[in-house]
Amino acid sequence: MAERFGQRFTELLPRPRLRRRTQALLTSAAPSPIWRFPPLAGLFGNLKVRPKFMVLHNLFFVLLTATIYFSLIPFIEQRINAARTREEAILMRAFMENRVPGEYLPVIGGAAELQLPAEAQGFLNDYPRAAYRHQQDTREFLFRRLPESGRYQRVEFPSDTYDSFTHRVRLTLFFVLGAIYLLSVLALEFLIMPRYVYSRIRMMLDADQAVRENRRADEVIDRERILDDEIGQIMHSRNVTVQALRQHEDELAKALETLEAQDRLASLGLLSASVAHELNTPLSVLLGSLEKMAEQPCDTPTRQRLDRMLRVTQRIKKISESLIDFARVRRDVFEPVRLQPLIQEAWDLVGIDEKAIAVKFKNSVGVIDTAMGNGDRLIQVFVNLLRNALNAIKPGGHIEVSSFVTIDGGRRWLHLKVEDDGPGIPPDVLPDIFDAFVSTRLDSRGTGLGLTIAEGIISQHGGTISAANRPSGGACIEVKLPAA
Ligand SMILES: Nc1ncnc2c1ncn2[C@@H]1O[C@H](COP(=O)(O)OP(=O)(O)OP(=O)(O)O)[C@@H](O)[C@H]1O
Ligand SMILES: [Mg+2]
Repeated sequence: MAERFGQRFTELLPRPRLRRRTQALLTSAAPSPIWRFPPLAGLFGNLKVRPKFMVLHNLFFVLLTATIYFSLIPFIEQRINAARTREEAILMRAFMENRVPGEYLPVIGGAAELQLPAEAQGFLNDYPRAAYRHQQDTREFLFRRLPESGRYQRVEFPSDTYDSFTHRVRLTLFFVLGAIYLLSVLALEFLIMPRYVYSRIRMMLDADQAVRENRRADEVIDRERILDDEIGQIMHSRNVTVQALRQHEDELAKALETLEAQDRLASLGLLSASVAHELNTPLSVLLGSLEKMAEQPCDTPTRQRLDRMLRVTQRIKKISESLIDFARVRRDVFEPVRLQPLIQEAWDLVGIDEKAIAVKFKNSVGVIDTAMGNGDRLIQVFVNLLRNALNAIKPGGHIEVSSFVTIDGGRRWLHLKVEDDGPGIPPDVLPDIFDAFVSTRLDSRGTGLGLTIAEGIISQHGGTISAANRPSGGACIEVKLPAA
């Protein structure tokens, strides 16, 4: 862009030689890709902020005081000199008219007594009405001849007073300006800059150090200590950046954890599914043969034995089917699913069980609560949860499903709680309740896969499931799903 502009510019020049020269100059002076500071500026730039400010303050105040001093002094001296000239003129006239005020201490005496030089004597003899001005060392005198007595009168000009006054003024100005300079530098360096600049730079450096050392408690600067200026804005923005980075880091760690767990689950699913698949065919044959045998007439003990064998084989088949179901990869279609009717449908399926007739079920899910998900898979989850609750409670017990909404990470979430007033989840089961084959009903009809499958489905929906015991007794399983 700049190159093209240079070319256009040279084309506009009138003479070819000038054009060539300018072009050469432009190309040779192409800016270096890295900006370089001149050596002294670089040296200054490399200083830490505090010494840098110290150099600048001192330079500034020295220049300021010097400027004030050197512009005031000539002005004052001019005024003093003007006053001195005026006083001299007045004194001279008064002396000539013999009206010198007493404070000038006029002295009368002979020429030798007053140290009157010969040339002055000659001048005053020639011009008896005139006055003679004469300097002796640093003092200045006026002489005149008294015609009546032939003696001389002398007064001294007050030059000394003016000189010492000028000197005093210079000295006073120098010390006053010096004191102002010193106080200003001290106030800046020890009060203002440490409070408003240095300490806050230190704060940011410390917080950055904490980020590097992963000390999370110290890496965010306390809001109370942030002022509303540009440094404060930088502090705010670094706080926000650090917090966002940490949040991403945590999310990533969580995602990795979930991925690992899912990976483990997938391997487990794959393994169990292959075993279950291998078992399915012989199991079907065994079940078919047992059913055939059961159709034949036989004595009571044999019938009882056959029934038991049928029950056990059916249970093994159910486990095997559950395992295959657990490992099945599905491409589910997700759509808005209204949860209140879904819970009702799940309960209707569970309610086929005889025990359900004696149980009080309450569906308190919000009428408009709608989650994003796959209805068939979600029914599977709630059938599992309701069946577990039904298995746990005594006849006449209560089961309630309720819902509430939260906002988390900028998204709306639906929480569904399945609660019962049964004995609660055994403490030894609770920590691993979502692991496969964890069950207190393995000896009866449970496979220990119900909650494992439920957790898999919920995590496919991007949600979570958790289990706890209620303080008032009974279990509470909470499902969190993304709201539609
Ligand atoms: N509402 C509940 N109250 C008490 N304990 C429960 C409840 N829900 C689950 N549990 C406990 O958690 C265990 C695991 O439940 P899960 O649904 O995974 O397997 P299961 O019910 O034993 O077998 P399956 O569901 O495969 O038939 C149960 O055996 C039971 O001990
Ligand atoms: Mg179950």
